[in-house]
Amino acid sequence: MATIGIFYGSTSGVTEEIAEKLQAEIGEDLCDLYSMAEDYDDVDDLLKYDYLLIGCSTWGAGEVQNDWREPLFDIEMDKPDFSGKTIALFGPGDCVDHGKHFVGALGVLYDQFKALGAKVVGAVPTDGYSFEQSSSIRDGRFVGLPLDEVNESDKTAERIARWLDSLKAEFPALSA
Ligand SMILES: Cc1cc2nc3c(=O)[nH]c(=O)nc-3n(C[C@H](O)[C@H](O)[C@H](O)COP(=O)(O)O)c2cc1C
Repeated sequence: MATIGIFYGSTSGVTEEIAEKLQAEIGEDLCDLYSMAEDYDDVDDLLKYDYLLIGCSTWGAGEVQNDWREPLFDIEMDKPDFSGKTIALFGPGDCVDHGKHFVGALGVLYDQFKALGAKVVGAVPTDGYSFEQSSSIRDGRFVGLPLDEVNESDKTAERIARWLDSLKAEFPALSA
């Protein structure tokens, strides 16, 4: 088993591609990749890892992607202990057509995992993003890495590189 678990939910494949990119950047031997639709059984899959990258696109009006709904409901009911876990969140959205709810899923995940004791890291400054509103901002920063493959795909590689660099202090495997 690798040190880091990457768990993602993706409807049209965008988050999946990002998750695969992250795995390739970090190193396949260092991360295991889980599709929430195909590989995830229950919360024990998440709890196997002390270091987690959690990916989720935003659908509806600021809501989590479908494959995360049931797992998050179960987690909310069972309240497993995530203390000692370090989690970083990432997710694509659409800052033009859905600019009033930009990457809202990140905020939902943040609130839920934080309430269970996880250390949620990897906040990103809002500078350089164009959007109207987002429920994923805490203390002036996005709670994770927002990406926009619809309107700003040219910025994705640089945003990922900068984010991974910022995670080195929290994810020892990234400095190995
Ligand atoms: C019906 C619909 C609703 C959406 N709602 C939001 C939203 O509320 N906020 C946002 O930032 N993006 C929203 N998006 C954009 C998606 O999050 C974006 O296309 C994303 O890349 C999809 O990733 P996935 O293929 O991994 O699911 C929406 C897209 C559609 C088609």
